[in-house]
Amino acid sequence: MPVHLVEHPLVQDALVTLRDVRTDPEQFRRVATRISVLLAAEALRDIPTADVTVETPLGPAPGRTVAGNVVVVPVLRAGLGMLDAVLALLPRARVGHLGLQRDERTAIAAQYYSKLPPNLGDSYVLMIDPMLATGGSAAAGLEVLQRSGARNIRIVCIVAAPEGVAVVTGRFPAISIFTPVIDRGLNAQKFILPGLGDFGDRLYGT
Ligand code: PRP
Ligand code: URA
Repeated sequence: MPVHLVEHPLVQDALVTLRDVRTDPEQFRRVATRISVLLAAEALRDIPTADVTVETPLGPAPGRTVAGNVVVVPVLRAGLGMLDAVLALLPRARVGHLGLQRDERTAIAAQYYSKLPPNLGDSYVLMIDPMLATGGSAAAGLEVLQRSGARNIRIVCIVAAPEGVAVVTGRFPAISIFTPVIDRGLNAQKFILPGLGDFGDRLYGT
């Protein structure tokens, strides 16, 4: 299934705080990290592991360690609010950056920056961007990643709109989307309803 609705109660609880208009940037940043840890763990549920043996104080114990090579790609700027969470789970992950910004009038995304690590084709690529609205930013990001050789890509977002989900699933049927929710739709300014407002502005107090 390309769309994974993450219904874990801790995810849904954090989402309420992020939506709440009274949540200030300090708390917003904290809760954005908390929800992102849970979402990233879900998105990497199928990452390969290697069998290992570890010495406990009482003797050897079998275990499994992460063997997959992960690249996390925050979409600037709002995606940066999810990055620390992924790096806390996977400190050795490599990080690519994609700068995409919606025009305030047309809501069409334009790319202003791209810096990606090599060998994307061998990696599990997590594109993190909290809001999937029209899907224009996601589609632009996915095109850059695929042109750069990425094959195994997942999108992790915090609020999705049906319009954005339709764009990604229609144009990129092999890409999985992990989201806690699919909201009602978009308003005339292409903001998600009920959504949570402008994620980047709420994260950084702009
Ligand atoms: C927001 C958000 C997504 C994009 C989603 O970023 O972080 O990247 O909008 O909208 P879309 O699906 O209609 O493309 P924005 O362009 O506002 O930039 P910012 O992260 O710098 O605030
Ligand atoms: N970007 C946001 O930050 N919020 C929306 O509702 C849509 C795009």
